[in-house]
Amino acid sequence: MTDTLSARTEPTGREIIRPRWWTGTPAIDPSAYVVDAGGRVSAGDPDLAARLRATFHDVGLVHVVNTGLTDHADMRAVAKLVLDTEMDYRGGANPRVALEPNVYEVGAPLTAALHYHHEMAYVGASTEMVAFLAKQTVPGRGATFVSDNVRATEAILETGFGRRLAELGVSYHRDLTDREAFVGREPIGVYNHWQQSFGTDDPAEAEARANAKGLHTSWGPDRKLRTRYDASAFEYFPKLDRNLLFSSVADHAMWFDSWPLVEQLPPRQRPLWMTFGDGSDFSVEDLRTYVDVYDRFGMPLDWRVGDVAVICNYRFAHGRPAIHLEPGEERELGVLLGRSFTRVGADRDAW
Ligand SMILES: [Fe+2]
Repeated sequence: MTDTLSARTEPTGREIIRPRWWTGTPAIDPSAYVVDAGGRVSAGDPDLAARLRATFHDVGLVHVVNTGLTDHADMRAVAKLVLDTEMDYRGGANPRVALEPNVYEVGAPLTAALHYHHEMAYVGASTEMVAFLAKQTVPGRGATFVSDNVRATEAILETGFGRRLAELGVSYHRDLTDREAFVGREPIGVYNHWQQSFGTDDPAEAEARANAKGLHTSWGPDRKLRTRYDASAFEYFPKLDRNLLFSSVADHAMWFDSWPLVEQLPPRQRPLWMTFGDGSDFSVEDLRTYVDVYDRFGMPLDWRVGDVAVICNYRFAHGRPAIHLEPGEERELGVLLGRSFTRVGADRDAW
């Protein structure tokens, strides 16, 4: 299975693992989750609301197409038919800028490939679902991919690596840089300043907010805030009464393999790294397996302006390849997060 992964070798000899995203055939027939709005959509339409909720309930994914919408506020109203409560976005999260109230930018450079992941798996408070609103698109390119996590979970548990993940859990290590240390400096190695991540300029307050999220903290050189979060690699999903994979290489240093101004750093100096819960490193073969189980069950959400997708954060992982725009092209998605939940990890009786 892993022989179909494309990989190349850096001059240093470290292998870069690139996802293939899907097999070429959608893991789930799109007719199960695509809802065609027929060219115009009203968030006040009770039939539409019922269709979207039923689809989301059955599949954990709904992709509304052909909406005729062009602005985020209208698309947000459609997403909210499924996403009943929006989450207050703060504390330990990736850097994002609000595009308008409660609609955020994706928070990653287009030229970086974003490995499959579950939103906010690396902090104690995650989100039940995530929605994307397609404001500007490049049809045929720039798809987001989602992966059927029920099948990815079954696949990883068939491997020795998956069973080790279940046994040991994972540790997420993050180095948050100090904004003041980079005044007037090129931001090499900067992913997220602790001031931005925790919404404060006060180091004590940032640390307190990190601790409140269940993160262990320490201070490194240049006032780097180092956090560690120990978690199960799986999460109990009450609606299916089973444990689902809830971790990926997106929190490993390889997240930055195509990230401008971070990719040139050796893995150990990058802002993220990830280990088994006992502190031991993943092998290259482990990482290939981590990537492969999502790739095998992936499918593209190819965007047109006005599209809205709502994705269950338990039942699906999401990610996307790097996007290189031609002059005059724009691609902009807005992000909405669903209700927050406190992670419980795996349930011993729900394997
Ligand atoms: Fe995401």
